[in-house]
Amino acid sequence: MAQETSRAVGPIVLLGPPGAGKGTQAKRIMEHYGIPQISTGDLLRENVNLGTELGQAAKAVMARGELVCDELVCNMVRHRLIQPDTRRGYILDGFPRTAAQAGWLDALLDHELFDKSRPTRAWPIVIQLDVDYNQLLLRITGRRTCPADGKIYNVHFQPPRVDEICDIDGTKLVSRNDDRLEVIQPRLTAYQEQTRPVAEYYQRTGRLISVNGDVPMDAVTDEIFRVLEDHHA
Ligand code: AP5
Repeated sequence: MAQETSRAVGPIVLLGPPGAGKGTQAKRIMEHYGIPQISTGDLLRENVNLGTELGQAAKAVMARGELVCDELVCNMVRHRLIQPDTRRGYILDGFPRTAAQAGWLDALLDHELFDKSRPTRAWPIVIQLDVDYNQLLLRITGRRTCPADGKIYNVHFQPPRVDEICDIDGTKLVSRNDDRLEVIQPRLTAYQEQTRPVAEYYQRTGRLISVNGDVPMDAVTDEIFRVLEDHHA
């Protein structure tokens, strides 16, 4: 499908538990609409790898499967959102995931709604990916990522052509540090306790659109594109 680069799209918020497919779908939206994926998980992991002050503060928290504190995450997102590539829209993948982050984002967007110089003056389109618990476990434990280009694989559902090797650049695939079995449960608990209320908040304000994430990747993508097209029609 040709890339769409003329219209403003979004902002788009992708919500869903660990392993729901947010990163996978965000990359497809990014490729199709030409707007950036802003993954707070990826940004934090980048900071951990670079050993920045933020990365040092986040490293142990992430390894335990808990959420990094709101102030650090919101500052990181603020810094990313002022980059010029967000002007036509952006996809927030993994943000907001606490009530405080959702409030912070609303305040930011509320301000932008009155900024006539911004082409993307709109409330976010919030898409929630629903996936069965056992399927989530398979997806998380089977995930492999290319450290060079970020491409996501799955040993069960989307294996590389050669075992453990990236199809694109031949790099050896890696497992994420927090995809270990003992860290998965705390991550799912953090989702239930801290992020479900965010989904409920968007539901109450009539902004939540649920998409069945428990079907093959292409079917999820088709449904998301349909939702986005309906929204912009
Ligand atoms: P983050 O990186 O955001 O992880 P997450 O939310 O736990 O989500 P995942 O990346 O595990 O899953 P995903 O939904 O992106 O699924 P994916 O597409 O990879 O956060 C990590 C940590 O950072 C947090 O625990 C926290 O410490 C910190 N953090 C991040 N944001 C924060 C915030 N806002 N506030 C505070 N702390 C924050 O897919 C998973 C697998 O399934 C892949 O292998 C894929 O190939 C496969 N798959 C995908 N779709 C399908 C399908 N339809 N069928 C079959 N397989 C599929």
